[in-house]
Amino acid sequence: MTSKYQIKNIDLSPKGENSIYLAESRMPTLARIRRRFEKEKPLKGLTIGACLHVTRETGVLAQTLKAGGAKLALCGSNPLSTQDDVAAALVKEGFNVYAWNRNDSEYYNCIKSVLDHKPDILIDDGADLIVIAHKEKKTLLESILGGQEETTTGVNRLRVMHERNALNIPVIAVNDAIVKKMFDNRYGTGQGVVSAIKALNILFAGKTVIVAGYGPCSWGMATRSRGLGANVIVTEVNPIRALEAVMDGYRVLPMEKAVLEADMVFTSTGCKDVVVGKHFKNMKDGVILANLGHFNIEISVKDLEDVSSKKKRIGEYVDEYTFSNGKRLYLLGEGRLANLVVIGGHPSEIMDLSFSVQALTAEFLIKNRDKLEHKVYTVPNEISEEIAKVKLETMKINIDSLTEEQEAYIKSFEIGT
Ligand SMILES: NC(=O)c1ccc[n+]([C@@H]2O[C@H](COP(=O)([O-])OP(=O)(O)OC[C@H]3O[C@@H](n4cnc5c(N)ncnc54)[C@H](O)[C@@H]3O)[C@@H](O)[C@H]2O)c1
Repeated sequence: MTSKYQIKNIDLSPKGENSIYLAESRMPTLARIRRRFEKEKPLKGLTIGACLHVTRETGVLAQTLKAGGAKLALCGSNPLSTQDDVAAALVKEGFNVYAWNRNDSEYYNCIKSVLDHKPDILIDDGADLIVIAHKEKKTLLESILGGQEETTTGVNRLRVMHERNALNIPVIAVNDAIVKKMFDNRYGTGQGVVSAIKALNILFAGKTVIVAGYGPCSWGMATRSRGLGANVIVTEVNPIRALEAVMDGYRVLPMEKAVLEADMVFTSTGCKDVVVGKHFKNMKDGVILANLGHFNIEISVKDLEDVSSKKKRIGEYVDEYTFSNGKRLYLLGEGRLANLVVIGGHPSEIMDLSFSVQALTAEFLIKNRDKLEHKVYTVPNEISEEIAKVKLETMKINIDSLTEEQEAYIKSFEIGT
């Protein structure tokens, strides 16, 4: 069957095939699921609509869902994160793809094109697909079995919809699976921000890095920055998270004070206007700004343009803003997810975990389709445990197991004397 598509250039497919092939070799957990899916076809006859960053790893997920018997229509979850060669390779493989890098003005039309395929399951990253289905394609909702949400901001949006009685499908919060959030958000984003900054070949040692927010993404960014010798300052609004940052050994300051010392500022809060005009005005010369949160609302690009007097593109994804006094600030990736825009997203080994959760969650949705209500569910812990077990096996790492006596002891409330 020929695929329907809207992409940049189909001739880029050979490069994309190689890219997906390389990612696949680093995603052994998902490969094992794929081999089982090939035999059992748990997704047979289903159409899956997905709004995900169109990266090489998403290509491997697409192949896994296909192996399970599903058809797939895919669009990008960010206008700047699509890898055009991967999009082309997926079209060659028969997937329906509506995504190209810099599709800003067509972003929502691409989502609607995916919904035109009348999907049974929605796999989302940021909740735009599920929200558009609720707002503009309401008739589809009756036949949709459920949704799966990849990221914190998307899960937060969907929980708000549920609180307002506006969520009309069951949704599984893939993001909240331990094996996703504690690895993808933490280690993926942690390494991602360092790689994005290192693309500029800038030294971390001795610099002061401001990390805004202290959720899992920021834990990774803070530890990796400290590991490279930077002094890390955390900003927070939640007292528990702030206390955690203090006890992890970081200085915690309000943003207004923190920016005075900053050499680099990384945001990952899921909140808007975290770094704004008054902060830019008080920064020193040469500060690098990078947002790692889902939407491009954390670092106010509008304010940056207002308070500076000149903007110059000095690298593929680096803009230099010069102020009237000669001070310069540098913004990565136009304020969009810097790790995805600058270096193509998390390492494949990390996405092996996240997309294994997505694949097994699709199977879980099908198996439980008659029981699920219109609310946001967490991924059953057994799925996380199974994925962690297989991942360790593929890494050839053995762990201990409980003896019968130990198991009996744990279950019996006995205490030693
Ligand atoms: N870049 C990536 O590859 C990637 C990967 C996973 C998640 N994300 C996105 O990153 C963001 C953070 O994810 P998380 O899982 O760490 O979220 P989280 O909600 O667990 O943590 C965010 C933290 O930011 C704090 N915060 C909120 N508003 C703030 C403000 N104005 N100032 C200071 N702190 C504030 C919150 O109190 C919270 O502790 C989300 O938007 C998520 O979707 C990005």
